[in-house]
Amino acid sequence: MKKILITGATGNIGFEVIRFLYENGTKNKIVAAVRNVDKARITFKEFTQLEFVEFDFEIPDLAEKAMKEVDCVFLLRPPHLSDIEIFRPLVAKIKEKGISEVVFLSVQGAEKSKVIPHNKIEKLLKDVGLNYIFLRPSYFMQNLTTTLIGDLRAKKQIILPTGDAKFNWVDIENIAEVAAVTLDNFEMYKNEAIEITGSENENFETVSKLLSKTLDKRIEFVNANPFRFYKIKKKEGMAKGMILVMIMLHFLPRFQKEPVISNYYEKLTGKKPTKLIEFIKREKEKF
Ligand SMILES: NC(=O)c1ccc[n+]([C@@H]2O[C@H](COP(=O)([O-])OP(=O)(O)OC[C@H]3O[C@@H](n4cnc5c(N)ncnc54)[C@H](OP(=O)(O)O)[C@@H]3O)[C@@H](O)[C@H]2O)c1
Repeated sequence: MKKILITGATGNIGFEVIRFLYENGTKNKIVAAVRNVDKARITFKEFTQLEFVEFDFEIPDLAEKAMKEVDCVFLLRPPHLSDIEIFRPLVAKIKEKGISEVVFLSVQGAEKSKVIPHNKIEKLLKDVGLNYIFLRPSYFMQNLTTTLIGDLRAKKQIILPTGDAKFNWVDIENIAEVAAVTLDNFEMYKNEAIEITGSENENFETVSKLLSKTLDKRIEFVNANPFRFYKIKKKEGMAKGMILVMIMLHFLPRFQKEPVISNYYEKLTGKKPTKLIEFIKREKEKF
């Protein structure tokens, strides 16, 4: 039995990773590394075997205790932490503690873009000589039910600077399922980079039409250029850093090739990835 530490445990991906580990009957000890242990105990009340430890990427002193007797780390970069210097001491601590396995949640195309933090973290893990598995998912379907849900509910719109750019849409549940398998069977996938995608490349116009049809209400796609998008979101009170991340994520794909569709999910689980229409039907309540 090994001890697996899950960072970002209370987030979209982390929660599902823990759910799948238990659903698959993991024999390993799972520890959620969280900022607020009391709150996390409530979030995970149905997972009675789960253990907790206080952890904060921005408080390096907490890492020593969190990493004690850990064999494997699921490492997730919280979206608002882009400074690689936050991760450098943590990776050094993982190495110092003799932890031999790190599964890092990266992003599709991370290897091609030297400016994004995921690329720098992947490099950091390799440079210190850790055994790694890089999970590189495409665009989350759950962006529709999280970051984009405000406009969808209040204005029945999706407002983004994406133009016609096509995104590959993947279900977080599919990503977490792969993550759980790789955490439990690290040796089988050691030092591999795994792209996790859905089966559909679609632009936002098409997705808006699909939402309209499936939810039986008109959802409009508004293609705002980056300046207009910035102005709209600033007025709504979105933090500047977050607006810039949104622009980077949604504007740059206009100049990139269509995403590559990978069959890794099917290879690993024997199942087909979730389709957009299945996702919208499953999450209908949230819209
Ligand atoms: N959105 C996409 O389409 C997409 C595609 C590919 C890859 N990604 C990558 O996926 C990652 C985001 O995953 P997610 O959606 O699961 O994130 P999320 O839902 O925002 O969750 C972030 C997690 O990090 C924790 N956290 C925040 N700040 C922390 C800190 N200082 N110390 C310790 N924990 C902290 C949060 O805990 P609290 O409960 O304490 O807040 C939460 O558990 C990012 O790296 C992103 O680049 C996203």
